[in-house]
Amino acid sequence: MDTIIILDFGSQYTQLIARKIRELNIYCEIHPFNKVPALTADVKGVVFSGSPYSCNAADAPVPDMSNIKGKLPLLAVCYGAQYLAKWGGGSVQQSQTREYGRANLQFIDNSNPLMKGIPQGSQVWMSHGDTIERLPEGYKVICSTDSVKNAGYQIEGEQTYAIQFHPEVHHSVDGLAMLRNFVVDVCHCDQSWTPASFVESTVAELKAKLGNDKVVMGLSGGVDSTVAAVLLHRAIGQNLHCIFVDNGLLRKNEFENVLESYKGMGLNVKGVNAKDRFYSLLAGVTEPERKRKIIGKTFVDVFDEESKLITDAKWLGQGTIYPDVIESSSVKGPSQTIKSHHNVGGLPDYMKLKLVEPLRSLFKDEVRRVGRQLGIKEELIGRHPFPGPGLAIRILGDITPEKVEILQNVDDIFIQGLRDHDLYDKVWQAGAILLPIQSVGVMGDERTYERVVALRAVESVDGMTADWCHLPYEFLAKVSNDIINRVKGVNRVCYDISSKPPATIEWE
Ligand code: XMP
Repeated sequence: MDTIIILDFGSQYTQLIARKIRELNIYCEIHPFNKVPALTADVKGVVFSGSPYSCNAADAPVPDMSNIKGKLPLLAVCYGAQYLAKWGGGSVQQSQTREYGRANLQFIDNSNPLMKGIPQGSQVWMSHGDTIERLPEGYKVICSTDSVKNAGYQIEGEQTYAIQFHPEVHHSVDGLAMLRNFVVDVCHCDQSWTPASFVESTVAELKAKLGNDKVVMGLSGGVDSTVAAVLLHRAIGQNLHCIFVDNGLLRKNEFENVLESYKGMGLNVKGVNAKDRFYSLLAGVTEPERKRKIIGKTFVDVFDEESKLITDAKWLGQGTIYPDVIESSSVKGPSQTIKSHHNVGGLPDYMKLKLVEPLRSLFKDEVRRVGRQLGIKEELIGRHPFPGPGLAIRILGDITPEKVEILQNVDDIFIQGLRDHDLYDKVWQAGAILLPIQSVGVMGDERTYERVVALRAVESVDGMTADWCHLPYEFLAKVSNDIINRVKGVNRVCYDISSKPPATIEWE
């Protein structure tokens, strides 16, 4: 399969480069700049990403280019462009004028392969503190803005191109066309990496890898584990044994509904009701991190007991996706833990199962496309993300079955309302939070002293940052009314209008 390798120098935009190239139906991988992978015959070209570093800094990242430069087509972006210019003997200095934000390419050499078909004046996105003052001998300018003469260049006699702006960013209007020029015209990649080809090759690989072995897998009802399971099921059928644990912290009727749809897809799945076990271990616990730890550990215990009943299982299936993989091997190392996320990871060593992770190379939106290709129902594919610890981190304070039931009913009215008003797919994630306070109200002629709930709906791309959704007032009014009228014990509804950062999406 034709592949592009992206060497990551730590830019916040590196993943975007990969996503844009994949949008062109070409497979690519991100690797840290100091761990260049084997450049096999499949590798048709290399991209250098940007970086927060200056190439003049003493600790600036330095790649080993011995098997790359002059040997494979190379596109160097931002830091990459500056690094190559300095490496060749040019001059890179701190910029006197601000080179951040939108700029226009006033000069474009349309005879250059990278710039083919790019219109004069094309808007690009600049984001750098340094600038290339002087290019080395043999480096030819291919585009300029009014203030940045050496905005892009090619090294003569080589398929080495460099641009100081970011083609991967949305504001670079013809950025995708430039990336296309590079990967298709310069690297000659075949644009054949599609969801259908991914399914076909992955199922074949899984068949070869797993043979007649048994695989156990925990399902959560989420998109990733569902798509991973369906892929595995295509490859090994009934040798895939799925376990779906009801921790008592799922949404209303979710366990029954999701279990039903899994069975409808032909999956060999066992539903395990472990509600009471979770409730009794969580009784009286209020501290958010402790709740998370208890839920994580109890899940592992239940999963461990259940998987022991499946004799001779050799593999553990997981729905790990590409951002998790990159995160753990990134230039900067795993980012700071703000909340400890529990997933199926972290199983005890004694389980001695080998991991099989069919979605390791995919971004979230690609997982969804593969899911659609596999014919999984839109209802499952388009689901909002839901945290592993479930409603436990949306019940502030201690957890009781009664509180869970109240919150399930509130959440159900809110989510169903979003669906009924055609808002569900416009929102990235939504849910309700049960607050640990009571407020005074009046119902009929009676004074009430009951619970308060908050509603939260956010827009986001990846959950790292988020903004609250400006849901229509009429909709909020109706939902609030429905909740107070229909859920016994709640007399007040608030709407959360904080963005992330500084708030987070979940309240705990
Ligand atoms: P925060 O609250 O950190 O949430 O802004 C970001 C995204 O992560 C989800 N989340 C979790 N997911 N286990 C998970 O699998 C967890 O412990 C967990 N905590 C938060 C949250 O729902 C949002 O989508």
